[in-house]
Amino acid sequence: MKALILSGGTGSRLRPFTHSTAKQLLPVANKPVLVHCLENIRDAGVTEAALVVGAHAAEISGVVGDGSAFGLDLTYLHQDRPLGLAHCVQLAGDFLGDDDFVMYLADNVLADGIGKAARVFAAERADALLLVQPVADPRAYGVVEVGAGGHVRRLVEKPAEPAGDLAALGVYFFTSRIHEAVAGLRPSARGELEITDAIQRLVEDGAPVRAERYDGYWKDTGRAEDLLDCNRELLARLTGPAVHGEVDGTSTLSGPVVIEPGARVHGSHLKGPLVIAAGSTVTNCTVGPYVSVGRDCVLRDTVVADSILLEGAAVDGVPGLDHSIIGRWARIGRSAASGHQLLVGDHANAEVAA
Ligand code: G1P
Repeated sequence: MKALILSGGTGSRLRPFTHSTAKQLLPVANKPVLVHCLENIRDAGVTEAALVVGAHAAEISGVVGDGSAFGLDLTYLHQDRPLGLAHCVQLAGDFLGDDDFVMYLADNVLADGIGKAARVFAAERADALLLVQPVADPRAYGVVEVGAGGHVRRLVEKPAEPAGDLAALGVYFFTSRIHEAVAGLRPSARGELEITDAIQRLVEDGAPVRAERYDGYWKDTGRAEDLLDCNRELLARLTGPAVHGEVDGTSTLSGPVVIEPGARVHGSHLKGPLVIAAGSTVTNCTVGPYVSVGRDCVLRDTVVADSILLEGAAVDGVPGLDHSIIGRWARIGRSAASGHQLLVGDHANAEVAA
């Protein structure tokens, strides 16, 4: 089986971060979402994968390269405009040939892997195997109507009036029969070739299409709150402390605290779960729970919980930072003036305690 990994898209709901990087490169628990995806694909036994990239191709190849660091042989495919998921299958036609494949939207985090689903697909070889999970608001997803034995009866993309609450996750297993189904598709109302329409065609043609309930943790990381939710979930899975950096005698640590080599902590209270990456310094702070501090960050005189700090972020003198994502080399500091002084980038969102 091969893999088709979709890592294009504009990520407009994750601005301002996506002005300068791909949404799939945003980190949860200090690891890019795309890397979580590549590891799941590798762990399912796949070695050959194509990666569809768009505007942020250079940043993506800078992080994952030829895939060998993750045990994958990666082929890059360029999609000039976001024309839809089924368009990506068309783009990958030559690469995929007649092979079975797993199509994986790289902004989806499946914290419990895809190994079980891959085994079910290999055993049954339905022409499409979808992973599904009930969601609170199905209108934001492809909605799957499932009959006896997991047989898919109907599939509708983002219906205004959903017939059920089962959402399609961004991981699909296909035989080569999907190529016929994507061939003659017409763009949807949002101007894209929808994979849900292609799968619905298979259903209408009488091809076996199955849904498998995903019992693990799943999140489509389309919005900031999803990234923070994922960050909490993955940090909650840390099993114990791993302190490889420098921690002085006046600091206290509780819970699963991971401090990478080269990080320095002075006069601070660290409440796990949290991770602090190499090169970061934390001085006179209270950090945690649920905080990921990327590489080369500087925290001083600050209280921070439930947050993600990307590489190089600096926070100085902020007593109550919560539920926040701070971008690369961004700085939050004390104001010498009496009012707040903000330089907030395009499409950024800042909420100041009144
Ligand atoms: C896409 C699919 C949708 C699926 C979702 C899962 O939506 O079109 O059917 O439920 O991924 O993440 P998008 O996230 O592109 O809006």
